[in-house]
Amino acid sequence: MISEAARADIDRWVEKYPEEQKQSAVMAALRIVQDENGGSITTEMMDEVAAYLDMPPINVYEVATFYSMYEHKPVGKHKLCVCTNISCMLRNSKGVVDHLQEKLDIGFGEVTEDGMFSLKEVECLGACVNAPVMQVGEHYHEQLNPEKIDRLLDELRQES
Ligand code: FES
Repeated sequence: MISEAARADIDRWVEKYPEEQKQSAVMAALRIVQDENGGSITTEMMDEVAAYLDMPPINVYEVATFYSMYEHKPVGKHKLCVCTNISCMLRNSKGVVDHLQEKLDIGFGEVTEDGMFSLKEVECLGACVNAPVMQVGEHYHEQLNPEKIDRLLDELRQES
């Protein structure tokens, strides 16, 4: 169920659009609900968002399954989104992926046993000039190499 706090947050987004177009807040609403649910959304939550914004559930499903920032399975506390698109591929994103998979003992779409990390393969993050790149939360980590990755994982563990 969408909490009162989440509803208030969604309402702030709804107010940005003309009254008859409140469904324009669907992306923000999905993000708010996902954040409140630990990083993923269920069908029931998408249905609730649809009802709250007076739109057909199928339209919410379309948005939630089109954009890669919405998760439909549980994720780790830290979601590591590794770009494997062309520029990153040419700058050894495979090495980044191999290192992360070996260190964390998980593959793409999986969560570490302690629930701390999950790994996701993503398309271009728009930071090609500093490839290879990984996004964690709102932060980009660029020109990655094994040392930088190890340092980052240690920092994220300490933060938790
Ligand atoms: S290809 Fe990786 S950031 Fe653009």
